[in-house]
Amino acid sequence: MSKPLVAIVMGSSNDWETMQQAAQQLRDFGVAYDARVISAHRSPDLLFDYIKEMTAHGVQCFIAGAGGAAHLAGVIAGKTTLPVLGVPMPSRHLNGMDSLLSIVQMPKGIPVATFAIGEAGAANAGLFAVSMLALNDTALAGKLADYRRKQAEAIATTAPPSLG
Ligand code: RP5
Repeated sequence: MSKPLVAIVMGSSNDWETMQQAAQQLRDFGVAYDARVISAHRSPDLLFDYIKEMTAHGVQCFIAGAGGAAHLAGVIAGKTTLPVLGVPMPSRHLNGMDSLLSIVQMPKGIPVATFAIGEAGAANAGLFAVSMLALNDTALAGKLADYRRKQAEAIATTAPPSLG
């Protein structure tokens, strides 16, 4: 596989069900990525090593998915100046509100771009990474424009349900 441009990190293998949506978008656009399960609190040393390794490999951004007291994205943002896109996992007890508030409420100075809770957020984080990469890649920008055009066409040709 070619050199990863995006690093996807998640706090638990249980997050993959959601985070695979980000990976799917990257795959659809032909963007090489690396995906790992690394926890900010269960394996912090591994996380720091991974950030260093991915940065050295030239990744352009990190997508971080975590749930509960979700500090993964914030910790990554504290260790790199690359853009960090945070995806709140739909947690069991608070339906992802804990994850959302943990990720979105970064104190001033260390930003994390925060997406919607769950699959829509994961997919949009993937699409957002594509948008960033497309700034310096005209072929990718063209694919993104096509993708948007198809969505617009699908809406335009969808009839409302009949009132019976
Ligand atoms: C976080 O704790 C993970 O991101 C996960 O969403 C949450 C629960 O982890 P598991 O108990 O499912 O491994 O670190």
